[in-house]
Amino acid sequence: MGSLTAGGHKQAMRALVIGSGGREHAILWALKRTSRVPLELYCAPGNGGISQLAECVPISIGDHASLIEFARTRDIELTIVGPEGPLADGLVDDFDRAGLKIVGPNRAASRLESSKAFAKDFMRRHGIPTADYSVAHSAAEALSVLRGGRFGSPGSPESPVVVKADGLAAGKGVVVAGSRGEAERAVEDLSSGALVPGDAAKQILIEEALEGREVSVLLFADGRHYALMPPARDHKRVGEDDTGPNTGGMGAVTDASVLDKETLDRIVREVIEPTLEGARLEGFPFRGVLFVGLMLTAAGPKVLEYNVRFGDPETQAILVRLESDLFGIFQTIVDGTLRSISVEWSRHSSACVVLASGGYPGDYSTGVSIEGLEDIAANDNEPRLHVFHAGTSISDGGGFLTAGGRVLGVTATGETLKNALDDCYRTVKEIAWDGMQYRRDIGQFKESKEKVV
Ligand code: AMP
Ligand code: GLY
Repeated sequence: MGSLTAGGHKQAMRALVIGSGGREHAILWALKRTSRVPLELYCAPGNGGISQLAECVPISIGDHASLIEFARTRDIELTIVGPEGPLADGLVDDFDRAGLKIVGPNRAASRLESSKAFAKDFMRRHGIPTADYSVAHSAAEALSVLRGGRFGSPGSPESPVVVKADGLAAGKGVVVAGSRGEAERAVEDLSSGALVPGDAAKQILIEEALEGREVSVLLFADGRHYALMPPARDHKRVGEDDTGPNTGGMGAVTDASVLDKETLDRIVREVIEPTLEGARLEGFPFRGVLFVGLMLTAAGPKVLEYNVRFGDPETQAILVRLESDLFGIFQTIVDGTLRSISVEWSRHSSACVVLASGGYPGDYSTGVSIEGLEDIAANDNEPRLHVFHAGTSISDGGGFLTAGGRVLGVTATGETLKNALDDCYRTVKEIAWDGMQYRRDIGQFKESKEKVV
């Protein structure tokens, strides 16, 4: 890696990350921090914080031709895709055709995320444990499934049932309904386009509601072999005590208490290996980062969903613990040689607390000046704490402005989860803008409040 020039100096390798959120900032930060070779980093389109460690290129993530042109003319060695949209749209297939190296699943493999009906049928075909479900092809069919009483306790319209749009919906396509009436309203809202864009709800899934603790298991995969990341938990609701609407994620943690070894082994055996094997058997070997969202139910772990990319903000909490060379890991994914390396993580715990704009996930204002970041950046030799930028831009005067719903992810590692959280919240106090909101209970999960913190 890293070719030698005539003078014997190692030439920098160039990496391009596609996306503009906290996840992409964390990937770039980890690339830079762990690389064994000099790297020149680029990000399309990036954000204010990212522009401090990578050259931000104003190309939209949907403009495949310009991304390919950029990668080709700038001699990009490796491109890494952050969000799901370009994966579902076949960006990896397009880069492959152009002979350019890119990390991420192709369009066929991305269906594990881009179509929930495809993912559920895939799980059924391969005996992977998941909630019972039915796929409806119209609102009328979905309503008739609900009224048929297969889901929820028979004869009890007050039992919970889950309604989901089939397609990508940025987290807004899932309604965990408390009663049949609520589920019927969800079907109507999904099919009328009130909740999700375009044709995401052409098919509607009705699912058995699972109960238990949620956990996210992410892994690197090269089509055949895989390497697990530390399991994570996130907080989806905007408000403390899990109140208010769902968001992209208000915080995440990694810690030994998230998942015991026995359950993780069971997840590997019953879910991860059959998923990778099933994908290979069906002709779409999975290369990239796979994110499995699971519910730990009384009957064992069951898959809630697949994501075919790093999660946000799970990635921030996970990558601060990475000790191996991330660029090297990505290269083995592309080359199919992941088995030849070992991926190491620090033994610490970690936490990420998201700071969001007032009003998020509904309407919010942007362009608001953020105070306090410069002082924190001045202490950036503190390796255990980092502020990842999600939605920021840089003002003419050089200060940071808010530019999105989720704005910052204050992330720390610690000997214990409590240490990591204390460091996060101490830092959060130094940051302020008009309308800033965050959850004060990250890391405290309802059923395990006393145990975790
Ligand atoms: P998904 O995008 O499918 O993971 O759904 C988003 C969130 O909805 C999950 O993280 C769970 O909190 C919840 N959820 C999804 N499916 C179910 C289910 N079958 N039972 C209970 N909760 C669910
Ligand atoms: N935090 C969940 C996701 O990235 O989809």
